[in-house]
Amino acid sequence: MDMQVIPAREGNHNLQDYEKTRKNFSWDDMKKNFSWNETGKVNMAYEAVDRHAENPVKKDKIALLYSSPDREEKVTFATLSKESNKFANVLKKYNASKGDRIFLFMPRSPEFYAAFFGILKIGAIAGPLFEAFMEQAVRDRLQDSEAKILITTPDLIDRVPQAELPNLEEIIIIGGNVENEDQYIDYQQEMEAASEEFPIEWVDLEDGMLLHYTSGSTGKPKGVYHVHNAMIQHYATAEWVLDLKEEDVYWCTADPGWVTGTSYGIFAPWLLGVTNVVRGGRFTPDDWYQTLEKNKVTVWYTAPTALRRLVSTGQGVLDKYDLSSLRHLLSVGEPLNPEVITWGLKAFNLRIHDTWWMTETGAQLIVNLPSLEIRPGSMGKPIPGIEASIVDNEGNEIPPNQMGNLAIKAPWPAMMRKIWNNPSKYESYFINGWYVSGDSAYKDEDGYFWFQGRLDDVINTSGERVGPFEVESKLIEHPAVAEAGVIGKPDPVRGEIIKAFITLNDGYENSEELLEDIRRFVKTGLSAHAAPREIEVKDSIPKTRSGKIMRRLLKSWELGLPTGDTSTLEE
Ligand code: WTA
Repeated sequence: MDMQVIPAREGNHNLQDYEKTRKNFSWDDMKKNFSWNETGKVNMAYEAVDRHAENPVKKDKIALLYSSPDREEKVTFATLSKESNKFANVLKKYNASKGDRIFLFMPRSPEFYAAFFGILKIGAIAGPLFEAFMEQAVRDRLQDSEAKILITTPDLIDRVPQAELPNLEEIIIIGGNVENEDQYIDYQQEMEAASEEFPIEWVDLEDGMLLHYTSGSTGKPKGVYHVHNAMIQHYATAEWVLDLKEEDVYWCTADPGWVTGTSYGIFAPWLLGVTNVVRGGRFTPDDWYQTLEKNKVTVWYTAPTALRRLVSTGQGVLDKYDLSSLRHLLSVGEPLNPEVITWGLKAFNLRIHDTWWMTETGAQLIVNLPSLEIRPGSMGKPIPGIEASIVDNEGNEIPPNQMGNLAIKAPWPAMMRKIWNNPSKYESYFINGWYVSGDSAYKDEDGYFWFQGRLDDVINTSGERVGPFEVESKLIEHPAVAEAGVIGKPDPVRGEIIKAFITLNDGYENSEELLEDIRRFVKTGLSAHAAPREIEVKDSIPKTRSGKIMRRLLKSWELGLPTGDTSTLEE
């Protein structure tokens, strides 16, 4: 096969010799970078914020370069440290303590980061929720985690369930006047009264830090539980993969409601004390190019879906901006199309480095490094300290160039430590010592990994993971819908879009208005990104004899593919 290869990037990279580092590497070596080496205890908030705030050279460095359509702010490490101390004191005042689940349901803002680190400073577990979630999505997560405190904004309070949350003791409102003082706590007022001093809670490496809810192919979203130990891998990958250096200006476009937005939008850059750009508001090509130009971003981590939109926006828009500050580009979340890499070479004169990992893995595992050649379409190679392979369903490794389950030898530093309240689900990820990802892939003779698809029915739309069960459950709550089956349908820009097949209850007629109403029902009940873009009415939905929806068959029909084994299909 004639394969296009993009040679290694020239220059001085933090990880210069992949093979040698890999051979001699032990995760214990990374521990020397942290202060807990002496105390035995640790706190991510200390390593990412306070350590820099205590350093006379670093304390006045800009940690956060924030902008949104109506606000701009620069926050130093010293300020972030003080503000998060204050918020930790507020949380203590309301009886929060180590191990409590404290959720953030708000857009990105400087207050978000102060609150986030305040939560970690008391040793509590932070649960960031994407701001587009609607009431049911919020309720599911607060209920499952038995959250004690929720932090939100006046705009979002309507979507916070007022009942069925027996564990929720307090709601703190940021950025507005609180009318009902018996019901809500006013952030502003509390912060003004709070002390800037806070004795940080030193915790064990294995103590809880973060809960990210994510979708599987069955059931409600699951709480993926991460611990402070993850910092070891965040630090390592910030060095090797993001290739961050002291003077960099780094921008990760992901929202902290998703794992990329915490691991790489918060922890990785700040563990290294690097200036971190945060842009609030919605995506537009001009806005993103402006953000790169204005902040002189040097390292940019984004997603294929955004890059594809930039490609389709064209050269004319790109030409308006001076993006010469950029030196390193990375991508995550979906397959990175070779055409986009080709575009990147032309548009920026830079390679785009694909990275593969998951909510459950906590940090990057398979990556393209600056010092290695890129084979467009490949996710790259496992980082030092990580053993990746392709295994069969019994967890036996299979030879190169054969498709199978992409698997990682467990454990590694940032790996999830449990699924909240669901030990059997957690166990189900591991076979024969391997963490089995649910992605199919193959490995070529030179050790490059090639993504092929999901092995389950999980949908990846614009880089966001959606569980079909959640959408189906919402659809059948609509009075017109009798049954529903939901699939991901390939889409050139979004990767996949959500397509729903439904049957109607007696007395309902198929019409444009009805389908629009059903779409809106999911959008306002669950979230915008979970709403089906296409809905098709059927006479029946194919099911197995045990009543499981045969999404695979729906997908084959949709794509005009052979339907394969249908022996379990109900008559
Ligand atoms: C997919 C996001 C192809 C994959 C960090 C995985 C990718 C799921 C890539 C995890 C990539 C992530 N190439 N597919 N480079 N990176 N995926 O949990 O299917 O939101 O299992 O984590 O996204 O999505 P999650």
